[in-house]
Amino acid sequence: MAGNVDALFIFLLIVSGLMTLLIFTALIYFAARYRHEAGVPAEQIDGSTPLELTWSIIPLFVFMAIFLWGAIVYFKGRTPPRDATEVYVVGKQWMWKLEHAEGQREINELHVPVGRDVKLIMTSQDVIHSFYVPAFRMKQDVLPGRYTVAWFKATKAGTYHLFCAEYCGTQHSGMIGSIVVQEPAQYEAWMNGGTTGPLSATGEKIFSELGCVTCHRSDTQGRGPNLQGVFGKPVQLEDGRTVTADENYVRESILDPGAKIVKGFKPVMPTFQGLVSEEQLNALVAYVKSLSNSGEAGVKPAVAIPPTAPTKATKGSQVQ
Ligand code: CUA
Repeated sequence: MAGNVDALFIFLLIVSGLMTLLIFTALIYFAARYRHEAGVPAEQIDGSTPLELTWSIIPLFVFMAIFLWGAIVYFKGRTPPRDATEVYVVGKQWMWKLEHAEGQREINELHVPVGRDVKLIMTSQDVIHSFYVPAFRMKQDVLPGRYTVAWFKATKAGTYHLFCAEYCGTQHSGMIGSIVVQEPAQYEAWMNGGTTGPLSATGEKIFSELGCVTCHRSDTQGRGPNLQGVFGKPVQLEDGRTVTADENYVRESILDPGAKIVKGFKPVMPTFQGLVSEEQLNALVAYVKSLSNSGEAGVKPAVAIPPTAPTKATKGSQVQ
């Protein structure tokens, strides 16, 4: 993304610079050329239609070009690729907690491999924070009570600054960390160093511990909807609306089950507000998501397989 953002920024800088130069040159020239001379009466000029049209129409095209270019860069930067690796981020006063779909947890540090699309699914457990990685030209507010999403693809190994870019209290300036971009082989080694198992498996455990599984059965329609294959699909609601089952929908259905009742079901589910932490919510979301990714053999993780060693990676991330 950085190249695209920079190109647009440099273009704006050049256009602004040229215009400033043009205006000041004209200003100085006219001040000298039309200065007051004793005994010469001033001549009144009443405007020129061709001139006014010219300086309206040319800027219109320049600004439309800037708008289009900006919109393209914006939408590219805002839309995570479908098969991106997912990382859950929880901001809190004053640290970043990160959890990989494979189960690795980190604080104020995120390890990613070179050349992989990484999607961040972010929320806050207290106030508004902002996840800001200047080197990636990426900044996204992190809000309590909902998910926001951002993505990046690191192209060069190295360690990059991570900042909180939203004033969030006393230690705001200390809410910093780093993104560690590694070569795929190094990253694999790091990944295999200790894990609690995939996030979706943690979610499955919570799902049965909280008793969700008694109503949301996987073999048949129970008192609650069967969740197999629901994620990412449109859902028909009791009030006639149709919504997409995305991260925020799953989250809301756990915390405020009455908000969107699925067609054909009764509003009997209790709220889990205050009963599950942000991390547990993320695990539950990852689990519901995994029910839509699964092929014939168990959970196919939302993890992109690194291009270099597909077989080894599959083994490493699936067998836990
Ligand atoms: Cu978190 Cu500023």
